[in-house]
Amino acid sequence: MFKLRCIKCGREHSQKKIRYTCECNGLLEVAFDLDSIKVKKRDFQKRSPGVWRYREFLPVAEDSRIISLQEGGTPLYKAENLGKKIGIRELYIKNEGANPSGSFKDRGMTVGVTKALELEVKAVGCASTGNTSASLAAYAAKANLKCLVLLPAEKIALGKLAQAILHGATVVGIRGNFDAALKLITEASLKFNIYLLNSINPWRLEGQKTEAFEIAEQLSWEVPDKVVIPVGNCGNISAIWKGFKEFYDYGFVNSLPKLVGIQAEGAAPVVRAFKKGLDEVSPIANPDTIATAIRIGAPVNAPKALRAVRESKGIMEDVSDEEIISAQKLLARTEGIGVEPASAASVAGLIKLLNNGSIGKDERIVCVVTGHALKDPEMIFNKYEKPVEIEPTLAELEKIIKP
Ligand code: F0G
Repeated sequence: MFKLRCIKCGREHSQKKIRYTCECNGLLEVAFDLDSIKVKKRDFQKRSPGVWRYREFLPVAEDSRIISLQEGGTPLYKAENLGKKIGIRELYIKNEGANPSGSFKDRGMTVGVTKALELEVKAVGCASTGNTSASLAAYAAKANLKCLVLLPAEKIALGKLAQAILHGATVVGIRGNFDAALKLITEASLKFNIYLLNSINPWRLEGQKTEAFEIAEQLSWEVPDKVVIPVGNCGNISAIWKGFKEFYDYGFVNSLPKLVGIQAEGAAPVVRAFKKGLDEVSPIANPDTIATAIRIGAPVNAPKALRAVRESKGIMEDVSDEEIISAQKLLARTEGIGVEPASAASVAGLIKLLNNGSIGKDERIVCVVTGHALKDPEMIFNKYEKPVEIEPTLAELEKIIKP
């Protein structure tokens, strides 16, 4: 049993009506009556890995038609090479790039689009820096729903744009940034009856909390000391915290991790608010970073994220584009894990916080890497070594191998 409730004033809302925020402007969240859930750890073990393995904790009707692409069940790698290199004893990488569309968004969309069918909508939509749109386009295709995506026209990674087109969404470039696109789709969703699947949608975040469930289960029900997460619109970090808390309150784990939220230097309004001890985030008018996925100046879920990091007694930090690129390279070349720049922000943040002593070398750390390297191939061509071209002779090849 679950309720839809405002995080600000506590007011409950009908689940049958489409609504994204409260009359008081507060964000909505799904609140479970955990006493009504009856499931044991060993029940999960009988099921396939993935989001729906934790069905009891997901807010859908018993007879709901579930739209799934077998998302979730992503690897948690023990990163021994990288750990040694940066000087940390027990480091894990949760690779969300291994989801069907290549990012963690799929966990949210399987629940969000399933909910869209329960609500009998005909069309779904989102604004996106790329991954949300790629994922929504795929799930809308599977559910046979129309899909509209609004993207910042200039700063969109090519792989993500290609995915939205491939899956048949109506793709619209906005002359403006993500924040402008989100404002427009929010207005459009009300006017044109389009079901909004940005992370302001509380049902979608319920799918994303399974990242925490999996981390707990993959670590044999012992949560790590800290979980490091890249932060943009602030949905994912809030969802992960909700997941850990539900498993803690239900009695599946005995402690809670501290959350570490990382933003890119040029787009770090939440880090600023956190460091100043503020509850309100001052938006940044022109956010900029090579990590286009988290190039966001006015994150809508900031109140949830600030609450999550503070409740967990965690930290927030920002990292430069140079630190992001060097972390991306290090992860790729020590562990064989290719991630997009926004995802590398978590590794860059870990390195920075290790170096300044905010994270200890003996801590057990999980870094969540959120999207696949192939999402943004252009960035790799621009910033990395260029391949060389030669005549097909041994002599020419030798010059390259033995310079
Ligand atoms: N990492 C990647 C790869 C992302 O695509 C995003 C968000 C984040 C991290 C941050 O997650 O917004 O929940 O704090 N991408 C959104 C999009 C905004 O439109 O694809 P968040």
